[in-house]
Amino acid sequence: MTSDNHVRIFDTTLRDGEQSPGASMNLGEKLRIAELLEAMGVDIIEAGFPIASNGDFEAVTEVSKRAGDGIVICGLARSGFADIDRAAEALKPAPRSRIHTFISTSPIHMKYKLQMEPEEVVEAVHASVERARGYTDDVEWSPEDGTRTERDFLCRTVEVAIKAGATTINIPDTVGYTLPEEYTEIISILLNRVPNIDKAVLSTHCHNDLGLAVANSLAGVRAGARQVECTINGLGERAGNAAMEEIVMALKTRNDLMPYQTQVDTTKIMPASRLVSAITGFTVQNNKAIVGANAFAHESGIHQDGMLKNADTYEIMTPESVGLTESKLVMGKHSGRHAFREKLKEMGYELGQNSVEDAFRRFKDLADKKKDVYDDDIIAIVDDAVTSEENDRIRFVSLRIACGSEEPPEARLVMEVDGDTRETVQTGDGPVDATFNAIKALVDFTPHLQLYQVHSVTQGTDAQAEVTVRLEEDGKTTNGQGADTDTLVASARAYINALNKLLLKREKTAPAALSA
Ligand code: KIV
Ligand code: ZN
Repeated sequence: MTSDNHVRIFDTTLRDGEQSPGASMNLGEKLRIAELLEAMGVDIIEAGFPIASNGDFEAVTEVSKRAGDGIVICGLARSGFADIDRAAEALKPAPRSRIHTFISTSPIHMKYKLQMEPEEVVEAVHASVERARGYTDDVEWSPEDGTRTERDFLCRTVEVAIKAGATTINIPDTVGYTLPEEYTEIISILLNRVPNIDKAVLSTHCHNDLGLAVANSLAGVRAGARQVECTINGLGERAGNAAMEEIVMALKTRNDLMPYQTQVDTTKIMPASRLVSAITGFTVQNNKAIVGANAFAHESGIHQDGMLKNADTYEIMTPESVGLTESKLVMGKHSGRHAFREKLKEMGYELGQNSVEDAFRRFKDLADKKKDVYDDDIIAIVDDAVTSEENDRIRFVSLRIACGSEEPPEARLVMEVDGDTRETVQTGDGPVDATFNAIKALVDFTPHLQLYQVHSVTQGTDAQAEVTVRLEEDGKTTNGQGADTDTLVASARAYINALNKLLLKREKTAPAALSA
């Protein structure tokens, strides 16, 4: 353990977070998240599991290429040499890289999953860490299912890993089973019993199956861990991982009892939460700590009265400290390109020229339709503009809907497909169904709709609708977003966005023409 009070934030949104069913992200989306994580000041980004797929390999490589020398890029690897070699290959361009290798150590995992004897596992620990050290000085080792591992065996494997060169020892609560007191005890046992523990940083990695991931992680820190593995919005397998925003704000707010520092710029928490939510289609529940829509809302009269007298009466942290600014009236239809670009900068967006142009065009259209344009409207436009790619094969052109209580709903849709303008009229059970049927008719493509979600960006009936659509084909899923003052146009855009991503995935295996 290092004696300092710096708690390293190891973000695994792109690896453990992406393992949530339906949360798959494409390369461009991963790069946007990585860029924001770096700007936030996280210490380490686990960018993927390079041997798992070509997409993961590419993501780790591309994140590595863009990383500055203030951040460590990490790739995950099982104990086999092929995994470790692949991770090392993917990490080559990173100015600072880490290989994170793991193997199960609990009796149940060793017996049923690995079908290995404990002695074989110990050998694998040594060999894998040594192999990884051949590539980088920064090696992390994890005993998977660590909290259900016999303590003596845990100490033994940790000692072996450090002897072989591990510089970080991470203790995963893989199945979200532990309790704060127990996790404290585990970290303390390691600190007291492992003779070479001073040569490594201890790390927490807690899953949230019992809703204790953050509490357990903080217990680990208080017991001596100096790295926390976590994800934005607590994204992760099953009930998720420890939420980064909660860890960071708990350490900041209760610094009296937890005198440790992270180097995270907390004002970037809200943009990061929104970005991850928009990309994955995983909405944040209203009452979610720190980033939920109600986290800083004071509804009851007694609370409002107290807040007006002194905000400290009911507010333990300020909305501004997490990057939540009042959704301000921003600009009108006379605002120019320069002012728009400045506004984007002020809101923390650094977009490429094409994305700025696209967002500006959308802003102008919106300002024509909607009297008041707020910060939140701009965020929705930008999310929409940057999730659409320049080389999208399918483009929305126009939509006209006829619906009501008399006739079956009918959608007249015009789209560009591979540069060809195509038009169709289709009916459906409702106007959304008719719209989606029209899209499918024009591309002869029938993926399974897994999720359809509408969210109102601001208040009022002229508010923009932000729609998320998740599509699935042959086990591959993609999320699409669309925003518009017209819910059906937003729905069409979201569906087309998800289709374009699905096409990209399809093309990687078998490029095909889009006939209809
Ligand atoms: O939960 C877990 O055990 C993991 C390991 C790979 C660290 O994610
Ligand atoms: Zn995990």
